Amino acid sequence: MKALYSLFVLLVLFGFNSAEKLHFTNPSEQDIEALIASMSIEEKVGQTCQITLDAIHKTDEKGGALIPEQIDPNKLKEAIDVYHVGSVLNVGWHTLSMDEWISIMNSVHEPYMTKQTNIPILYGIDAIHGVNYTVGGTLFPQEIGLAATWNPSLAERMGQITAYECRASGIPWNFSPVLDLGRQPLWSRHFETLGEDPVLGTQMGAALVRGYQGSGKEVDEFHVAACLKHFVGYSASFSGRDRTPAFIPEKYMQELYFPAFKEAVAQGALTLMINSGVVNGIPGHANYQLLTQTLKKDWGFKGFVVSDWEDFIMLHTVHRTAPSLAEAAVQAFNAGVDMSMVPSNPQYKTYCQDMVAAVKNGQISMARLDDAVRRILYVKKQLGLFQSPLPNFDQYSLFGSEDHKKAAKEAALESITLLKNDGAVLPLQTNQRILVAGPGAASINMLNGAWTHTWQGLDTSFNTPGVLNIYQALKYQLPNTTISHAKGVELYLENDFEASRFVNLDAYKKALKKNDIIVICVGELPSTEKPGDIRSLQLDQKQKELVRLAKAANKKVVLVLLEARPRIINDIEPLCDAIIQAYLPGDHGGMALSELISGKADFSGRLPYTYPRYDGVIEFYDHPGSVARAKSGQFNAYNPQWDFGFGLSYNYAQISNVQFVNKNEATGDFSVSVTVKNETKQLTKTVVPVYLSDLYASTTPELKRLIGFNKVVLNTGETKTIIFKFSANDLKRIAADGKWRAEKGTFEIKIADQTLTFNLSNDIDF
Ligand code: BGC
Repeated sequence: MKALYSLFVLLVLFGFNSAEKLHFTNPSEQDIEALIASMSIEEKVGQTCQITLDAIHKTDEKGGALIPEQIDPNKLKEAIDVYHVGSVLNVGWHTLSMDEWISIMNSVHEPYMTKQTNIPILYGIDAIHGVNYTVGGTLFPQEIGLAATWNPSLAERMGQITAYECRASGIPWNFSPVLDLGRQPLWSRHFETLGEDPVLGTQMGAALVRGYQGSGKEVDEFHVAACLKHFVGYSASFSGRDRTPAFIPEKYMQELYFPAFKEAVAQGALTLMINSGVVNGIPGHANYQLLTQTLKKDWGFKGFVVSDWEDFIMLHTVHRTAPSLAEAAVQAFNAGVDMSMVPSNPQYKTYCQDMVAAVKNGQISMARLDDAVRRILYVKKQLGLFQSPLPNFDQYSLFGSEDHKKAAKEAALESITLLKNDGAVLPLQTNQRILVAGPGAASINMLNGAWTHTWQGLDTSFNTPGVLNIYQALKYQLPNTTISHAKGVELYLENDFEASRFVNLDAYKKALKKNDIIVICVGELPSTEKPGDIRSLQLDQKQKELVRLAKAANKKVVLVLLEARPRIINDIEPLCDAIIQAYLPGDHGGMALSELISGKADFSGRLPYTYPRYDGVIEFYDHPGSVARAKSGQFNAYNPQWDFGFGLSYNYAQISNVQFVNKNEATGDFSVSVTVKNETKQLTKTVVPVYLSDLYASTTPELKRLIGFNKVVLNTGETKTIIFKFSANDLKRIAADGKWRAEKGTFEIKIADQTLTFNLSNDIDF
């Protein structure tokens, strides 16, 4: 009774809006203006407020979520009627069944569907490697593996399927893709990136956005709004720890960190999330120059900017650029954040009250508030939410279908990268006795990583039923071969940091004696964000010991890496006959890996990053410096464990006839053709990268940098001619005066072992 009375008082004081509401099903621009004009300050502020599901769900006496998850009608009513909240996110703490999602969506959208409100709620989720929060959703490799496919059409397909399965769960907005550049291997979210290269990342990222949003003018009921993350520089933390400061000179911001975001914005990405860290001393959420000037004004971004989790709060509590929460909200909003992921209860109420007060006392202008609301309503309209935020749940019969699983396995197959295969130890022979060992041998969680059924992906109880781990998949693939399993080492968390212990090491040693080939699956426990912080890039010593013991027993060793980031293995690399980087290949990774190592399919993955040899020497393939230095192999030489783009296959296509189709050395336009031929007896997929070296420039040029690539599929005996088109745009860099320019001089274009020379006759400014 007391609660109901307080709600009534709040409604009278804060939320009552007696004006007749305008209802639109497909609002035009003018309709949106009319809507904005009809809204109270409280209603407008509510649109900028995003709350988490936990803020409105029913709980038991201890505050825990109910099973099945249910919306609390009173909490929802308060959020909508009093605070006019415009967006809800997240999942509670674990993956939900389709029935739970349908029930949540029916409750959340009921006020709009029954015309009690006139603006639909926008629901968002982190479906970052497939729909990882709906039971039965299709799980793809994490983005780092996707990048290793070098195949944008697979990225687009992953985007389409993820979008479809999101919508099937009633969710029209996906917090993906991550477009942060993977240049800090210590970072806990390295696996969420598309690798270290701006061209690879830009093309793969753009393909994901196309897949998520579709190619229509508006986003239909099978597609979702993409959310570009995390603008910008989040991945470059100097310490390697999550959400700590980065230092990025303007030149590298422009050349390396911006391009993937800029292209995705040009493609019409509807939303963008901000970096929770600090770049060059300014917190991402307070950076007017980046959010308003660069993104909105210079790039013409039409969608809206959402904060990351509790990030305006962090401006006060962590970054200390705002002396109070109220000032933090104003700071973020005026810098250009349109929607704040506040997101808990009761914090969201304070946010709304503070924001309303800030508008009333002039700290936030009505024009700025209207701009944010206009952007949010535009996205809601583009998603068709005014028509109906609730989909027809019956129209998604392909959810979790065989077709979708096949696409996820295809992505895993093309991602997994063969790094070493001495003495052709792979493919495995059926008459060999095989021991599968290590913490990753029988773990579905280590195939998937974080953001899988739970935030950290550690809980085994929610794993997709029926999925085969590596050991099971190998047995399935080679039914007549003797295959056994001994774990040897298990991973666990100690005071929040990764730790390991031997398990039944004697059994492992005994098993070594009985087998010919030891497949050792090593890596990391799933983790992300702060819980994923590490103190060393070294792979843990106990897992390395499994390799040492196997080699000491004189066995052939196949090392399988299930890594969220490249861990240092230079000491055990010589002891391994074969090494495979599987990244985090997802639910279908066990099957994909078993097909590859049994020879039923060929490897075509290529590293999307430079694999470091030493944890104290982190360099990238496009490092500046002389060719002589790179080749010297001596002190100070660039000497990674494996280079960016490296990867082996069983069958190689021949690359030849690299030549200019045309070139104009005055305008900078040129096309190059290359012949790719498969003379082997199997279908071959091969990556053809095109690198460029600028020999001399006003700023020290990279040794080489990627300017284009193509993944070519060739049947037995097939020959294809690939044509790459380039322009001065591909030659341009930031010059010594800080401006984009293709500087005149000699460029070398390198494909495989062939080089063409291009002499740009004059400077071209951009
Ligand atoms: C992460 C984001 C994510 C958001 C919502 C944050 O902690 O940094 O990547 O989209 O939570 O779950």
